[in-house]
Amino acid sequence: MSKQRITALGLALGFTLSSAFAAPGKAPTNPATDNEAHIEQAMHNPKARAAGKRAAFLCVYCHGEDGSSVQENIPNLAGQNPVYLLTQIQKFGDGRRNDEFMSGLIKALKEEDRVNMAVYYSTMQPKTPASSDAALVEKGRKRYLATCIGCHGPKAIGSHSTARLAGQRVSYITEALANYRSSKSPRTDPVMTTVARNLAPDDIPAVAAFLSTLK
Ligand code: HEC
Ligand code: HEC
Repeated sequence: MSKQRITALGLALGFTLSSAFAAPGKAPTNPATDNEAHIEQAMHNPKARAAGKRAAFLCVYCHGEDGSSVQENIPNLAGQNPVYLLTQIQKFGDGRRNDEFMSGLIKALKEEDRVNMAVYYSTMQPKTPASSDAALVEKGRKRYLATCIGCHGPKAIGSHSTARLAGQRVSYITEALANYRSSKSPRTDPVMTTVARNLAPDDIPAVAAFLSTLK
């Protein structure tokens, strides 16, 4: 085929494809509102939760039965905000967040499985142990009320964009804050990196201890 013919074919194909996919009058999509809409839809689908539980067999080894982690440095997924969960799964999938185990596994999941799993885990209750160091918990409570409450909420149940922290593992909260602080970690966030860098080193174990006591 001549060079000209190839160019002509390419143009024709490009034209047909772009006209087939351009939906006239449709506003450009926004990933954050798309995630909210997909979760909202799945919450009303009576089959989504069971489908999410089936797909989650891949996750049990690390995130525990029903999303309550039984290993250090691995987060509970139980009770987490479903839109936050879906967003984090997408971040592992596209490299905005990295973990040697999670990243490969997540890339293999279809969008529908991701949505169903987020719905399934959000309906569970976290069951990890709470800190019993009363003085440390009290110090952490004061720090939480002064610095974190505005975004993570009075009961630390988070929001679509900020994460539930209530009932989360002490070791995971500690590591997540260390990761935000470090310039070497793949996990950065413009807001949390600033917050974490402004904490005194001994605020971190205190706030983690306090959060582990919330249900
Ligand atoms: C081999 C262990 C392992 C397996 C299996 C695993 N994860 Fe993870 N997961 C982790 C670790 C470790 C982290 C924390 C990584 C970090 O801090 O960046 C994590 C973090 C997450 C987070 C972020 C939670 C948060 O609070 O930000 C989500 C969501 C998640 N995993 C979902 C899943 C799903 C869904 C599956 C099953 C398809 C799965 N994981 C399987 C180890 C695992
Ligand atoms: C101005 C809003 C804001 C404030 C204040 C804030 N956070 Fe966050 N936090 C966020 C956002 C947004 C995220 C999600 C970032 C991401 O996607 O990585 C987050 C995520 C986190 C995570 C990761 C949770 C997980 O499951 O991986 C931890 C831990 C955390 N925050 C702890 C804290 C603590 C402790 C404080 C107070 C010292 C605090 N945050 C104050 C907005 C805030």
